[in-house]
Amino acid sequence: MNPYRLTKEPVMTGNYPDTTGPLLFFDTGVGGLSILREAQRLLPTAPVVYAADYAGMPYGTKTEAELSTRIPLLLGRLVERYKPQLVTIACNTASTIALDVVRSVLDIPVVGTVPAVKPASLMTKTGVVGLLGTTATIRQPYVDRLAGEFAADKKLLRFGAPELVHAAEAKLRGEEPDPEAITAAVKGLTDQEHGDEIDTVILACTHFPLVQAELQKSFPRPVQFIDGAQGIARRIAYLTNDIIWPETVRSGIFVTTGSLDALAPYRKAFQEFGLEKFEAL
Ligand code: DGL
Repeated sequence: MNPYRLTKEPVMTGNYPDTTGPLLFFDTGVGGLSILREAQRLLPTAPVVYAADYAGMPYGTKTEAELSTRIPLLLGRLVERYKPQLVTIACNTASTIALDVVRSVLDIPVVGTVPAVKPASLMTKTGVVGLLGTTATIRQPYVDRLAGEFAADKKLLRFGAPELVHAAEAKLRGEEPDPEAITAAVKGLTDQEHGDEIDTVILACTHFPLVQAELQKSFPRPVQFIDGAQGIARRIAYLTNDIIWPETVRSGIFVTTGSLDALAPYRKAFQEFGLEKFEAL
């Protein structure tokens, strides 16, 4: 039982209810902000801790063995330190590899981020769907299962584009994302057999929605993009339905496994999300 949990029968201390434990979001870098943005639309005053494993970035080119050890260990430390109500693994690579093991070691709800194959499959008119993820995500049995269950009658063309992670990071530092990384990701899909029939693209890495406009420009014709962020935000709101959140917005915490100095160029972007306190893990 989480002692910080606040239900609809709040414990009153003086005139105010006890402090509410935060929502914790976890990614390697800024990708999870694409999920946080949607969560903040639904729960604008929920306290937030955003954890970035910059020391372990990129996940997309690491092995399953490395990630399934590293991620639960880090999340265990984060949960101990921040006592969140709920953890969101705002990273497709981490979720498709380590969601089950994380759930088995934490005693609070854990929401994962997995490729939006089902909605994409309902949206496509041509029956050809592109899926952009990290190299690790696109080879996961988890993705095979989603494809088998929800897109068996569709063509799902996968491409691993780990360079887009760096392009998105650069954009949030206020730099221009590498145009070659964008073009290479698009060509990686369109050059495949039936690639010219793609009308729907799944952004199966949380960094990629941050460069969606650049990707769209590079496609030879308009395509619709889909990521899981809105569905995940709804899931977080549903699972925290009994919590009374504070009435006013408080500063969120950005915690990194990397150096605090390296965060300086991102601070303007973080402000938009109310992330104004910086800590090292
Ligand atoms: N944002 C992560 C994802 O959704 C990947 C980042 C990385 O490769 O470090 O897969």
